[in-house]
Amino acid sequence: MTCRLDPPQPIDYETIASWITDATACACWAGPRVPFPFSAQELPRLLAIEGVESWCLTDKTTSTCGFGQFWGAAPGVVHLGRIIVSPTKRGKGYGRTLCQQLIEKAVHKTGAGEITLRVYRNNSAALSLYVDLGFLVDDSKSTDEVLFMKAAVRQITSMPDRA
Ligand SMILES: CC(C)(COP(=O)(O)OP(=O)(O)OC[C@H]1O[C@@H](n2cnc3c(N)ncnc32)[C@H](O)[C@@H]1OP(=O)(O)O)[C@@H](O)C(=O)NCCC(=O)NCCS
Repeated sequence: MTCRLDPPQPIDYETIASWITDATACACWAGPRVPFPFSAQELPRLLAIEGVESWCLTDKTTSTCGFGQFWGAAPGVVHLGRIIVSPTKRGKGYGRTLCQQLIEKAVHKTGAGEITLRVYRNNSAALSLYVDLGFLVDDSKSTDEVLFMKAAVRQITSMPDRA
C-alpha cells in the first residue's frame, strides 16, 4: 500500500466532514468535544488541542482516505486521537497504515517511547485494530464507556526496530 501523510487542506476538512453522518459516528470518532452537526469550516477549530498535529492519509492513486491527530500527553508520551478512514475504504488496511504512519511521525518528532489512546468499548473495529497493533488496556484510566490503551513504541507491530 503506497500511502503517505500530508497536512490537511481546507478541502480535506470537507471530505472528512462528509464521512460523519450522525451524532453517534461523530462521538465515536472525536469524543464529546465535537458537536454534531458541524461545518467543515469550523472543524479545524473544533479539533484543536494544545500542541496537536493533524495529518491526512493520502493514497497515491486516489485522494484523502484517512485522518488522525497526535499530541503530547506527558513527557515521553504521545496520545493518538480522531483516527478515521473513509467509509468507502474501510476493511482494506488503511486504518492500520494510518496508525503506523502516525506513530512513526509522532515518535520521530517527539522522541516519545509510549503511545496512548482512548476508544469507546463498543467500537469493536477500532478496538480490534488497536489490540492488533499491540496496545493494551490500562484499567486504571478506563471508564465504563471508554477504554484507555497504551503501548511502548517497541511493542507496536510492524514498526521499524528502534533498539
Ligand atoms: C477504526 C477504523 C479507523 C479502522 O480502519 P480500517 O481501514 O477499516 O481498518 P483496517 O482495514 O486497517 O483493519 C485493521 C484491523 O482492524 C480490525 N478491524 C477493522 N475493521 C473491523 C471490523 N469491522 N470488525 C472487527 N475488526 C475490524 C481488524 O483487526 C483488522 O485487521 P485484519 O484486517 O487483519 O483483520 C475505521 O473503522 C473507522 O474509521 N471507524 C470510524 C471512526 C472511528 O471509530 N475511529 C476510532 C476512534 S478511537
